[in-house]
This record gives sequence, structure tokens and C-alpha cells, in this order.
Amino acid sequence: MPDSTLWIPQPTDDGSFTFFSDEFGETFHSRFGARQEAFQKFAQATDLAVKAQQETLRLLDVCYGLGYNTAAALEVIWAVNPACYVEVVGLELDETVPQAAVGSALIDGWSLRVQEVLRAIATHHCCTTPQLNATLLVGDARQTIQPLAQSEFQADAIFLDPFSPRRCPQLWTVDFFAQVAHCLAPTGKLATYSRSAAVRSAMLAAGLCIGTIPLGNTHLPHEWSQGTVGSFTAQTLYPLSPMEQEHLQTRAAIPYRDPSLSDLATTILERHQQQQNQSTRESTSSWRRRWGIK
Ligand SMILES: C[S@@+](CC[C@H](N)C(=O)[O-])C[C@H]1O[C@@H](n2cnc3c(N)ncnc32)[C@H](O)[C@@H]1O
Repeated sequence: MPDSTLWIPQPTDDGSFTFFSDEFGETFHSRFGARQEAFQKFAQATDLAVKAQQETLRLLDVCYGLGYNTAAALEVIWAVNPACYVEVVGLELDETVPQAAVGSALIDGWSLRVQEVLRAIATHHCCTTPQLNATLLVGDARQTIQPLAQSEFQADAIFLDPFSPRRCPQLWTVDFFAQVAHCLAPTGKLATYSRSAAVRSAMLAAGLCIGTIPLGNTHLPHEWSQGTVGSFTAQTLYPLSPMEQEHLQTRAAIPYRDPSLSDLATTILERHQQQQNQSTRESTSSWRRRWGIK
């Protein structure tokens, strides 16, 4: 029986809490602010405040975890349009994570309406109200996404929030992105916190245009970003800085592959390492020196 009491809340700089995964060796959110990350890198980056004027919205939350990205999205959407009908599909490997989140005070910062939704999703793996139809698919997202991708499901916003590529390469491969891209509506946006060149080239290989999540209102030539947004048209995306574009020409941009969508993380990492060793592309350290990155 999975044990949700094993998850111990860790504070982040904005006063909200996250968990630490011993298995993956990482916290679930940025130490600068778990709640802030959910709003800025996911809800805002996918234009939900604007899209909320639609009568209905569909969201795909890959790596649902504590449910913060779904919660922030619902807060933003219903603040603009309380009548908006939202369909949410969440994908999560470990059901004890959302259970632990709702079993503690961690969700108290969300509105009562959203807290109710998070409780129902964690407890019943679904939530149906006049304004919401939410489903949590528990299992490896590489498997649970396949029937979804074959169905008519077309998300207006996709949140892609796995642990980092080094720790969880299986959810950053070209092959997984191809499945995710199938679930994205023609005008939809996919957001992730990752600014890794390997992740960005996997998104391009899956047929997406990519843009950056800028640190401020402008994006300077030498500046890094807060993440990446993918969509089928480049028109509404913030272009990558020249520094980021050059990063995509280096060895770091060789993407992860998992053709059967079932390889072990170690197998995917080894395959990636071999491809990097054989590559004649510019080394990432030489690119770093050129841009003065420590
Ligand atoms: C960085 S955390 C996500 C945080 C989450 N979005 C939130 O707001 O709380 C990564 C999540 O991915 C889940 N995960 C790890 N491997 C997975 C897999 N193969 N399929 C689905 N979920 C996975 C973990 O259990 C964890 O909850």
C-alpha cells in the first residue's frame, strides 16, 4: 500500500511548500517559489487569462504531482470567467503525491473552490462539477498518454513538469514529445520550466515551434530564460535570444530518444551519451566560454 505520509513539506522562498523526492533526488518545484512557478511558468506562459474568455478550455497536466499547475490554472481561468467549463486530464505516476498534498495544509493557499477540486482529484482520481471535468490517469505517462493521443483530446494548454532531464530523461524524449504534441490543439501552447537545449531540440523534432519564457518584459541577446513554450505557430511566441539559438547548434542539443516508450532511464542516458560522444558538433563548453557563462 503506497504511503502518503512519507512526503515531508519543504518551504520555498515565496512561502509555499513543495516535496523532495528521494527517488529522483530533486524537489518538486523551484526553491524560489512553488506557487509562483505554477503561475508564471505554466498558467501565464500558456496565456490562460486570455483563453479563459472561451466558453470551454482543455488542460493537460503532465506530472500532476501536488496539483499546483492545475490549481494555478483554475484560479486564473475562473478569476477571469467563473463560468468557463474546464476539462483537465492529469498524468501522474505516484498517487501518494497528490494524496499527501491534500492531506496537509499545503493546499490552504488556494481558493475553497480549487481546494475542493484538488481533494476530489487526489481521492477519487476525478472531479465533476457544472464547470469542471477532471481526470487523473495514474501510471507511467509514457503509457497513459497513448490512448489520450489517439483520442480526440486537444488541449488548449499543456503543462510539462517532470523532474530534470538528467533524473527523468524518459519524459523529455523526441518520442514522448511526439505523443504530447498529438494532444495539443492547433492554437494551444505547451509550457515547461526546462530551457535545456536537448529538450528544445526534442520539441522541434516533434514538430513544434519553440519560444522562450523571458525573465522580464524583454529578452536580451545574452539572456537565459525561465523555460520554453511550444506551439504549432511561432507567431505568439517570444523568440529565443541569439545565445539560446546558438546553444541549439551544440552537442548539448542532441535530444534524448526512447523509440519504444519503455526504456529504463539508464538506457536512455547511455544512448544519449554515445550520440554526444560521436558528434562533431561544437562542444557546449566552447559555447559557454564564448558567451561568458560560468
Ligand atoms: C517535478 S514533479 C511535478 C510537480 C507538479 N507539477 C506540481 O505542481 O506539484 C514531477 C512529478 O512527476 C511524477 N513522475 C515521475 N515519473 C513519472 C512518469 N514516468 N509518469 C508520470 N509521472 C511521473 C512524479 O511522481 C512527480 O509527481
